[in-house]
Amino acid sequence: MSAATTLSSGPGEIWSERCFDLLRGAAVLTGNDLLLSLARTVSRFPEAELHVAFNHRQVASKIWARDELARFGAGRQERIWIVGGWYGVLSALLFADDRLSIGRIESFDIDPSVAAVAESLNEPQVADGRFAARTADMYALDYAGTAMAPDLVVNTSCEHIEDLPGWLALIPRGTRVLLQSNDYFAESQHINSQASLEDFAAAARLGHVDFAGALDLRKYTRFMLIGRV
Ligand SMILES: C[S@@+](CC[C@H](N)C(=O)[O-])C[C@H]1O[C@@H](n2cnc3c(N)ncnc32)[C@H](O)[C@@H]1O
Repeated sequence: MSAATTLSSGPGEIWSERCFDLLRGAAVLTGNDLLLSLARTVSRFPEAELHVAFNHRQVASKIWARDELARFGAGRQERIWIVGGWYGVLSALLFADDRLSIGRIESFDIDPSVAAVAESLNEPQVADGRFAARTADMYALDYAGTAMAPDLVVNTSCEHIEDLPGWLALIPRGTRVLLQSNDYFAESQHINSQASLEDFAAAARLGHVDFAGALDLRKYTRFMLIGRV
């Protein structure tokens, strides 16, 4: 048994089993299918840092994205690409929202360890052909080339990429985008945080902006832009 699967409080205790029971109970209590998928995924992938992805600030940031998308993205989203999609939490939250009509989501991440976790979290949508997670560098994707090109590109990991304008330049003009970044410079993995919403908007230079906002999360502020490149 690896150290990652044990609780320091008691020999033989497997934290993922406790977590599974707790989350499954919460799923029954609330009737929330996403909690059930989360319970199963924690149990299958005890080493995955799902507690970080489900941190209350991460969830609040994604609920914010979902709410504003519901306001500014009315109508059907046939194909959504989420880059830097990590464990697929945003995908699961979007699928769970009745206000949105989504054809299919593809989630891309450069880390090969996250795709299986994302597909577990979105298992019902994998089964009906509406979700896939792939290992890929967002700079290497062909955003224009195929009939399957996305009509919405989402990147809530802008603070993790070096060249935001260079990445946006790969996306065909007029494509809808939802972007998030933050001012959390203290986190070492944040190689391109932004000091303000104005700085973020200036770096992105979108052709059209539907929404620009900041969400105070106390430890840091998250910024979001919705519009077209
Ligand atoms: C910490 S996570 C997500 C943070 C963000 N706040 C969120 O919840 O969406 C950042 C992800 O971006 C991914 N990533 C970084 N550079 C990438 C690239 N060039 N292409 C694809 N994924 C990338 C990382 O592997 C990681 O899974």
